[in-house]
Amino acid sequence: MVTQHLDKPLHHLAIIMDGNGRWATQQHLSRIQGHAEGAKRVYEITEAMKGYGIKNLSLFAFSTENWKRSPSEIKGLFTLLNQFAKQYAKTLIENKVRLLISGELTSLPKNTQTLLAKVISDTAMFKDYTLNICINYGGQDDILHATKTIATQVKNGTLALEDITSSLFASHLYTQDMPPVDLLIRTSGEQRLSNFLLYQLAYAELYFTDVYWPAFTKDQLDIAIQSFYSRHRRFGSIQ
Ligand code: FPP
Repeated sequence: MVTQHLDKPLHHLAIIMDGNGRWATQQHLSRIQGHAEGAKRVYEITEAMKGYGIKNLSLFAFSTENWKRSPSEIKGLFTLLNQFAKQYAKTLIENKVRLLISGELTSLPKNTQTLLAKVISDTAMFKDYTLNICINYGGQDDILHATKTIATQVKNGTLALEDITSSLFASHLYTQDMPPVDLLIRTSGEQRLSNFLLYQLAYAELYFTDVYWPAFTKDQLDIAIQSFYSRHRRFGSIQ
């Protein structure tokens, strides 16, 4: 495992888990079997968080555009999310990890909403580690949603225009009190952001790998984090 570099903190890791379908085709499996194998990597990477000293992990599980997929694939993905909420809650509690869900949740199947709400409330007291799963999430939607909330407060007279700072704005995003993303990993060879955490990624280091998500084991994570530590982050300065 890579040793932490205290001068280059990795507070927030975000991952676009791409390539489940292509991995499945390569293995002569169904797309949903690819997602199921991808879900196993979710459990492994979440459990690895503490070892790397990463306190915040965001995962892109279902985008606002994923509704265009076949009904059977959508159903399969929500079955995996339900299993996650049922089976993994105990581990999150044992590891003192708070679950946050980012996205517009009222359009999700009712049982998924209920199961996730239970895990969110059962883990709400944990302050140190956050697992943020983005479901029915879009970065532009996130920014619009925060803007509307803030505009309503200004209109009602409960917030003054001059009190709108970038940290106040960030606190109204779905990611709430999570720090900005330090490292974004995207698997499967695609090199784009696909409407993920657009505001939160402003100064993130980007890491792209050809490895498909179901094949992204802890060894692959080690390589990505090593790459992050080898970079010189300037945040706009000239040093
Ligand atoms: C992208 O691969 C992956 C997704 C749209 C879904 C990600 C879901 C999981 C990893 C499993 C469930 C998650 C949790 C949190 C338990 P793709 O289908 O677009 O792959 P392709 O581009 O190769 O077709």
